[in-house]
Amino acid sequence: MSKKIAILNGPNLDRLGKREPDVYGSQTLEDLEKAVLAEADCLGVEVEFFQSNHEGALVDKISSLVDSGIAGVVFNPGAYTHTSVALRDAIAASGLFVVEVHISNVYQREEFRHKSLTAPVSTGAIAGLGFYGYVAALRFLAQ
Ligand code: DQA
Repeated sequence: MSKKIAILNGPNLDRLGKREPDVYGSQTLEDLEKAVLAEADCLGVEVEFFQSNHEGALVDKISSLVDSGIAGVVFNPGAYTHTSVALRDAIAASGLFVVEVHISNVYQREEFRHKSLTAPVSTGAIAGLGFYGYVAALRFLAQ
C-alpha cells in the first residue's frame, strides 16, 4: 500500500495567482496542486488536498488525520501561522509529522510574520522557496 500525504492550505491561499502576485507569484492553487501531484506520482505516494479559510475547519481536518494512517502533512497555515494557538495545539496533539511551508520568505517581510506559533510544534519548516517548498516537504515525508 502506498503512503498517503495530506497537503493543507490555510486562509487566502485559494486566491493564489490573483493575490499579491509580486509576493506569491502568478500561479494558482490548482497549478500548485498539479505540481505536487506530478511529484507524488514520481515518488509513488498518494496525496490529498485540503484548503480552508477557517481556523476551526483546519483544526478539524488535522484531528481527522490522526489515526488515519497518513504518513505526514504538508501545512501552509497562512496568516494563522502567526496567530493561532488552536492550530498549534492541534498539531502538538496530533503526533503527526507536519512540515510547515511558506511560499514567501516570511523573515524578509513584516516583523509580525517572523513569529510562527505552529513551527515549534512541527517536524520542520520551509520558507521562501515558492511552490518548490511543498515539493521538498513532500519528498521529505515520502521517505
Ligand atoms: C504565507 C505567509 C503568511 O505570512 C501569509 O499570511 C500567508 C502566506 C506564505 O505562504 O508565504 O497567507 O503563509
